Amino acid sequence: MKERVPTYEVITFGCQMNDHDSEVMAGMLESLGYEPAASTDEADVILVNTCCVRETAENKIYGLLGRLAHLKDKKGDLIIGITGCMTQRPEVARKIKNRFPQVDLILGTHNLHRLPELLLQARECRKRVIEVWEQAGEIVENLPIRRASKVKAWVNITYGCNNFCTYCIVPYVRGRERSRRPEDILNEVRQLVQEGYREVTLLGQNVNSYGKDLPQPTSFARLLAKVDQVPGLWRIRFTTSHPRDFIQELIDTIARCPHVCEHIHLPVQAGSNRILKLMNRGYNREYYLDLVERIRRAIPGVAITTDIMVGFPGETEEDFADTMDLVERVRFDGAFTFVYNPRPGTPAARLPEQVPDKVKSERIQKLIERQNEITLAHNQALVGRVEQILVEGESKTNPAMLSGRTRTNRLVIFPGPRDLIGQLVNVTVTGARLTHLEGQLPATV
Ligand code: SAH
Ligand code: SF4
Ligand code: F3S
Repeated sequence: MKERVPTYEVITFGCQMNDHDSEVMAGMLESLGYEPAASTDEADVILVNTCCVRETAENKIYGLLGRLAHLKDKKGDLIIGITGCMTQRPEVARKIKNRFPQVDLILGTHNLHRLPELLLQARECRKRVIEVWEQAGEIVENLPIRRASKVKAWVNITYGCNNFCTYCIVPYVRGRERSRRPEDILNEVRQLVQEGYREVTLLGQNVNSYGKDLPQPTSFARLLAKVDQVPGLWRIRFTTSHPRDFIQELIDTIARCPHVCEHIHLPVQAGSNRILKLMNRGYNREYYLDLVERIRRAIPGVAITTDIMVGFPGETEEDFADTMDLVERVRFDGAFTFVYNPRPGTPAARLPEQVPDKVKSERIQKLIERQNEITLAHNQALVGRVEQILVEGESKTNPAMLSGRTRTNRLVIFPGPRDLIGQLVNVTVTGARLTHLEGQLPATV
């Protein structure tokens, strides 16, 4: 009788770093002989890749662990593993260990490469395995990977963050900034092109500080120029950019490199100089506004998106008005908006003047409402125009349609044959929504 192939599911929360780490974990599981499970209920191994940037994410994860614990009660040989940023916080790892005896494996962010060995331990010995490294070791290259897309790929360029924005937990759970060697990055990109990938997104918490820590220091601009020359690669994206380190050389490089897309995600966080200072962001609103102007001047048609937070401790009506004013002046193409949430262990959580929830929610409503109008207006301005789209696949919401993105990272949904997936096509924009554009391929004669 043929032995049943064991199956896995990786459930991911958080940012692109986690999406990408999950691809690596899936790759490692497949190299052990596991296959993707048809549904969570059927999986033999379930890994939860966690985020702790805000409490809402953490609460969702505790809820999920509760549901998975029930599954384990019914199915004794199920293995539940938890990894990602939450496990790097000792008090959280302890809580998971005590409250969820059904969790078999607790793994940190610095030792993902140890997954195969630790999983085998958990499986063979039927005992709990807990391994979280306090600090990152050497970067481990050439791990197996199973990527979610066949067209576009994430490529890490830095790990960790040195910025210590006063509200943010990321530097504590992801460790100090480490850059990958340019040769390793370029080899990965070349390999991806050989496999048929057409777009890469270079990933780091602060891509602009890439290369400063290497034995032979280099810069993000130099790396970008080299990636731009990889034959067969059509599009290059990168995220996230810190405004402070966005030097003129980088603007000029983006403008000059034909494959680098005209989209910059440039988190501003706040529009008040007093708050920016308390956040330890290292720039003021005048600098940010000038930077946006220089970027727009050098890169025609560029889309600028951002992250904005309301309710940082001590934020007054006046400070919030400064944020609204900045939003008005920049007219971002899109924005992720957040309510400040105190993270244990960060300096901002200890500040005395925490803003009441009611005020926070009034402010976020106002911000979202205004930014939505601006985002929609940007999208509507594209109606009637022809845009170059890289076709990524079927639309997630309607498999009868195709979906792809403009160079400026706008999602476009349009009818067309599936064999266009992976191709560049020109699409006429026929409609604009808040979240995407609708389009039509040119009529064939
Ligand atoms: N490295 C990226 C962002 C990582 S976290 C950068 O510096 O831009 C993504 C976003 O979450 C941040 O930009 C910030 O807006 C938000 N964020 C981080 N900590 C937060 C907190 N304590 N409460 C609310 N939002 C937070
Ligand atoms: Fe957090 Fe600031 Fe680092 Fe971004 S740059 S990850 S917001 S500390
Ligand atoms: Fe969350 Fe960790 Fe990313 S805390 S935002 S998953 S780096």
